[in-house]
Amino acid sequence: MTRTRIFSGVKPTGHLTLGNYLGALRGWADEDQHRADALFCVVDLHALTVEHDPARVRRLSRQAATLLLAVGLDPRLCTVFVQSHVDEHTRLAYLMECTASDGEMRRMIQYKEKTERERARGGSVRLSLLTYPALMAADILAYGTGEVPVGEDQAQHVELTRDLAVRFNQRYGQTFVVPKATVPKVAARVMDLQEPTSKMGKSHARTSGIVYLLDEPEVVRKKVMRAVTDAGSDVVYDRAERPGVANLLDILAACGAGDPTELADEYDSYGALKKDTAEAVVELLRPVRERHAELVKDPEYVDSVLRDGAERARAIARPRVDAAYRAVGLMPAV
Ligand code: TYM
Repeated sequence: MTRTRIFSGVKPTGHLTLGNYLGALRGWADEDQHRADALFCVVDLHALTVEHDPARVRRLSRQAATLLLAVGLDPRLCTVFVQSHVDEHTRLAYLMECTASDGEMRRMIQYKEKTERERARGGSVRLSLLTYPALMAADILAYGTGEVPVGEDQAQHVELTRDLAVRFNQRYGQTFVVPKATVPKVAARVMDLQEPTSKMGKSHARTSGIVYLLDEPEVVRKKVMRAVTDAGSDVVYDRAERPGVANLLDILAACGAGDPTELADEYDSYGALKKDTAEAVVELLRPVRERHAELVKDPEYVDSVLRDGAERARAIARPRVDAAYRAVGLMPAV
């Protein structure tokens, strides 16, 4: 029997956050790489869909790759690489644009939210922000991926990927595996500590509600202790009515201390909950920061991992993308 193929990625638009870690990276390292044939990618092309500073994207891409190794991805078990190093992603993205309709792209929540925000400021959005899910579908489908471990916010994009795979296969013959998203049981959507009705997002302007993986322990403590909590003072787990407290309970539960509803019973003040959550997060991130500090001293090692990773990724993606090119009627080069 062939092993399940897993693919997932992270976009270098900002420093990686606790949301990225709990929603995705931790599961990749602790479970996915051990149970499947897994590829994990710094999806740098996706970072160009919004205004960007070239030097910053380059820096953040390296940092994200280093962090993937720091959280425990082991290149002997899985493939770690950078998207732009493997041409198959953009080759296939075009075929995905030819498979999708503009209406289904416009329905994507992230596109709608980002365009509304941008237009309110009088700005415009890049065309690539609209076509982004076609590139994301290509990322996934090029590898014959069965499972895509992501946080809740990416589930809609994976659903669209499924639709595109099914449609392509129906039109042109069986070419792609139809993938499914897997999301973690707890902390699939970590919320901003200052604005607990919005997702903790790495590219938000206000950083006081965002815990970054490389924040110093003192900074983590400060951010968690200053988290916005809700009116009332008793600790209950209610995501709709008490989003601030529920977020802290989710984070604490995800740090390893159990179930958020049961945890709520153990606390009778917000202060105690915050203190324990802060310490749990500091301890959770400590080994990641330490390993990152070591890896930063050895950039050649990180480069060699990415070089080997891209080579492996190319070898897997190439035949399937070639097959897709033939299936749609493009004439093979002779
Ligand atoms: P990105 O870079 O925004 O996030 C990377 C991963 O982290 C998860 N995540 C969260 N999980 C829980 N709570 C949060 N606050 C939180 N914020 C982020 C995301 O769900 C994601 O799993 N479009 C993707 C990148 C991508 C991709 C792919 C993913 C491009 N191609 C192919 C999977 C497969 C993105 O922007 O993720």
